[in-house]
Amino acid sequence: MTTSPTISPTIAVIGAGLDRVDAPLKVTGKAHYPNDFGYAGMAHAALVRSIIAAGRIRAIDTSQAQAAPGVLTVITHLNAPRLDRGPMTLLGPSPPAPLQDDRILHYGQHVAIVVATTAEQARHAASLVRVEYESTEALLDVDDPRAEVLTDPWSLDSERGDVAAGFAAADVVVEGTYTTPDNTNNPLGLMATIAAWNGDSLTVHDSTQWPHNVRASLAAIFKIPESGIRVLAPYVGGGFGAGLRMWPHVILTVLAAREVGRTVKLVLTRPEMFTSVGHRPNSVQHIKIGASRAGDLIAIEHHGTSTVAMEDDDYEPVSLCSAVSYACPNVRTRDRQVRLNIPCPGSMRAPAEGQGNFALESAIDELAHALGMDPLEFRLRNYAGEHPLFGLPWSSNALQECYRRGAERFGWSQRTPEPGSMRDGRWLVGYGLAGASYPSYQVPCQARASVHRDGSAFVRSAATDIGTGTYTVMTQLAAELLGLDTSRVRFDLGDSDMPYSPQAGGSGLTGALGNAVHAACWRLVREFLDLVRDDMDSPLREAKLDDVTVSEGRIHRTGAPELGESYTDILARHGLEELSADGRSTPPRSEELGMAIAGAFGAKFVEVRIDPDLGLLRVTRVVSAIDGGRILNEKTATSQIIGGTVGGIGQALFEDTATDQGTGRIANATFGDYLVPVNADVPDMDVIFVGEPDRATPVGTKGVGEVGLVGVAAAIGNAVYHATGRRMRSLPITIDQLL
Ligand code: MOS
Repeated sequence: MTTSPTISPTIAVIGAGLDRVDAPLKVTGKAHYPNDFGYAGMAHAALVRSIIAAGRIRAIDTSQAQAAPGVLTVITHLNAPRLDRGPMTLLGPSPPAPLQDDRILHYGQHVAIVVATTAEQARHAASLVRVEYESTEALLDVDDPRAEVLTDPWSLDSERGDVAAGFAAADVVVEGTYTTPDNTNNPLGLMATIAAWNGDSLTVHDSTQWPHNVRASLAAIFKIPESGIRVLAPYVGGGFGAGLRMWPHVILTVLAAREVGRTVKLVLTRPEMFTSVGHRPNSVQHIKIGASRAGDLIAIEHHGTSTVAMEDDDYEPVSLCSAVSYACPNVRTRDRQVRLNIPCPGSMRAPAEGQGNFALESAIDELAHALGMDPLEFRLRNYAGEHPLFGLPWSSNALQECYRRGAERFGWSQRTPEPGSMRDGRWLVGYGLAGASYPSYQVPCQARASVHRDGSAFVRSAATDIGTGTYTVMTQLAAELLGLDTSRVRFDLGDSDMPYSPQAGGSGLTGALGNAVHAACWRLVREFLDLVRDDMDSPLREAKLDDVTVSEGRIHRTGAPELGESYTDILARHGLEELSADGRSTPPRSEELGMAIAGAFGAKFVEVRIDPDLGLLRVTRVVSAIDGGRILNEKTATSQIIGGTVGGIGQALFEDTATDQGTGRIANATFGDYLVPVNADVPDMDVIFVGEPDRATPVGTKGVGEVGLVGVAAAIGNAVYHATGRRMRSLPITIDQLL
């Protein structure tokens, strides 16, 4: 494995705002998403879901459904085989297995799957399944004293210094309780699974962010070797985290296909998406922070409580951001989980930071006002120059530059500090800002690169592109590393038969995959050099990797373009059709490198306008200054930040999964009722990238998937405070909080 060569400083392809390489396929309908596939003889499935949140099934009558036209089978807990729970994954334990007994743990729990010749027949028959429930009182409220409370399940609570002494020494202390609601991921593409058995082998199309996890999970559950399973997800219609875990409906589709001996397709309905594929769990956070009169943070205490489903183990440490965001000597963060009769949560768009940052950055703003300091100045003053928990220098951290450049672009200096002091006609104008970070998350990844006799390259890994631009940026990266035009490089993904890739999630895929592609491409160049090592005809004879440069389809001695030859010539002379090499990346380790592996940082500046009589709130400007390390493609990275910002506006002003407290029913499980921002809610947004390639990895990216969302809700809340003098402590911010 090679590590030495770096990406050329004379950037050609990397960073360029290349159009998405998959765009023509998408706009012409040639990109096939999981629910676009069909097979001859394919049957269709529909789910029956519980309409109660807790209790048991007293009786279930499937006779009418069984007798309905086209029905092939109805599977319930009475005739389902016993299935093991899925395996432990890198993201934690799998969700509980479906249809294993008569217990109901949440509203929307799958209680039957019906398979019929057509989708309409399956849905109709599903409506004929009669279920008699015996309800018990459901635990649905985070404050319910009867609920089980889990303490620090993943050992992520933190403590440093002496928090009590810190508060005693502080001149100014503020504290508050912040709440965030359940949110639902809602990718546009309804999640779909197609399962096709062929003897003991299985092919699955699935709306997953992680094909290898689906393969490993199904292998464990159905007790077949992983080599007998192929999971395909070349295009996925969005994810937002909903496709990270392998959910019970995937298991049910595979099971149904085995039962009926035919290929089976299941497409979730939009209401089913609200109970079947995770959600951001709600949180209650108490935060207290104190500073000296001069403006130095002295103590932070952040307690988070969030919710989790019965028998599930998903977890988000919402308070952890308070341990790593500022230089502060005395900090305690603690997280608790309350077990309720709710659908399984899961990661959703900046899990943990999305909620925790709202409390932290609102409290920081409140403290700055209490001190009479500019909140920008206060943040700059308390910048963490080294990692506050590890005491190590950052591998990169341009947060201060984010603040300065963002403030300049936004015109922060125009702000008058007094709340309510800026007006435009009837509108109160508010400026708010928030700092943001999203931690580094890296796991091992593999890729394979090939160059063919015709001079084209083919690079692949079993990753996914959930709309974020993976195809495009990996094409650019491979093109740069192999010295080829992007039109000569094809990057393929979304197939578990390809080399191992981790999930598209945690803002970690571009880093893990990029470094694997880097390793594969440089290894491939070395393979070419190995071929010509003793070749008396080659100007590259005995050249080492460090001696050469690649460009225009050729390898040549660095500084001497004439001393080289093309991939094509080398392959032809050696009678080879292609040459391939594998590469892998491993996560950089802080202890080995003597530096704290940094994630992305950012500063969000927001202008709001509020009509104080009507309670109208408009977000009118957003500037995001982002340190994402190396930016592989300015255009797709900007889109990521814009998309994250829109998600942040949704979190701040609209999104709220409403649970009926009597029944546990999700009361707004449609796109008509679950509010998300529309174009009229979204202003023009400025995105600027600052900082340098991160030192910890060869490619130096830090991930821009989630930092776009983090901080937006707090910046909006802080702008509302500046406009009105009212502190927003509960999301979403609604009219009643403004009147
Ligand atoms: Mo992201 S919530 O890790 O898909």
